[in-house]
Amino acid sequence: MIDIVCGGQAGDEGKGKISAYLSYTGNYEYCVRVGGPNAGHTVVQNGVSYTLKNIPSGFLNPKTKLVLGAGAYTKTEWLLDEVKKTSTQDRLIIDPYAVLITDEQTAAERGASHFMSHIGSVGTGLGQAVKERIERRDIKFAKDEPLLKDFIQDVPELLNACLDKGGDILLEGTQGIKLSLLHGEYPFVTSRDTTASTFLGEAGLGPKSVRDVYVVFKPYITRVGPGPLEKELTNEKELEIYHTKGHEIGSVSKRLRRVGEFEKRAASRAIMINNCTKIAITHIDMFPGNDRVKKEEDFTKPAQEFLAQLRALSAQVYPHPKIALISTGPDMEDTLVL
Ligand code: IMP
Ligand code: MG
Repeated sequence: MIDIVCGGQAGDEGKGKISAYLSYTGNYEYCVRVGGPNAGHTVVQNGVSYTLKNIPSGFLNPKTKLVLGAGAYTKTEWLLDEVKKTSTQDRLIIDPYAVLITDEQTAAERGASHFMSHIGSVGTGLGQAVKERIERRDIKFAKDEPLLKDFIQDVPELLNACLDKGGDILLEGTQGIKLSLLHGEYPFVTSRDTTASTFLGEAGLGPKSVRDVYVVFKPYITRVGPGPLEKELTNEKELEIYHTKGHEIGSVSKRLRRVGEFEKRAASRAIMINNCTKIAITHIDMFPGNDRVKKEEDFTKPAQEFLAQLRALSAQVYPHPKIALISTGPDMEDTLVL
């Protein structure tokens, strides 16, 4: 069966950490990543931190094969650099039609004020590559790169054969509902839809084999670029705590993230549109006194109130997901299973 991890806010909810935890503790044959290298997923194991722009966060489980689907975009040198850092050359599989962003595409995006100052693009060239793909230009696919030839396989074939044998697949999405090209806050969005059904299509999977859809939330919301935040924090002292203890600095963009209060509207749309069955919460330790708490009863009152508020919201939104995972610190293992 397939489990999917989606973002319930504006990206940077901690999808990397949740995907890593699920993959490490679960029995997934494949962990699949779709989307572009503008999305940095951070995974920390025993204090060692990895920022991944290309490789699926499930790499920490040596038994999991790592897949980039046809809806993945990467840059050859960034990908190969990450493969080396994570020692994953023996278990990486790439769809022939995953896109390789060229230096020209990156330069074109970085030179366009519409992308950079108006939308606040990360500047990886993803938007430019998507644009050229839609225009049916002569873009570069993974199958065209000799350095990647050992990794190329028919991804839909492999994944569906795995499902046919009763195997499990983890599908790691990127960004969050507020950044969806279809359901987000246009034009302050990324260049693709960022919801569960699209992730499936981008991997070459269909909807009938989905078991769980995890949507990840923080108790607050961050945005790296411009665009709406319902209640933005402006107090510099408060913001500093988010930027230091909360590590709220763009992992790819290196920009200080803007911070706002938890948004119920975004959360209910994320639950609804993704058909969320399980909620994962990260950064609960940003409520003081909740670092590495081991039992729900031991959370402080503000943290308990946040959980109660989220449960009340979920009771009103189909398909009424339960809170399943709570992350209480930066390390993948600081995860509470409810
Ligand atoms: P682009 O996708 O790089 O063009 O960026 C479009 C908008 O989405 C900008 O505001 C970016 O900061 C934001 N964005 C893109 N990817 C991510 C992400 O992975 N996390 C958070 N924000 C992102
Ligand atoms: Mg990120």
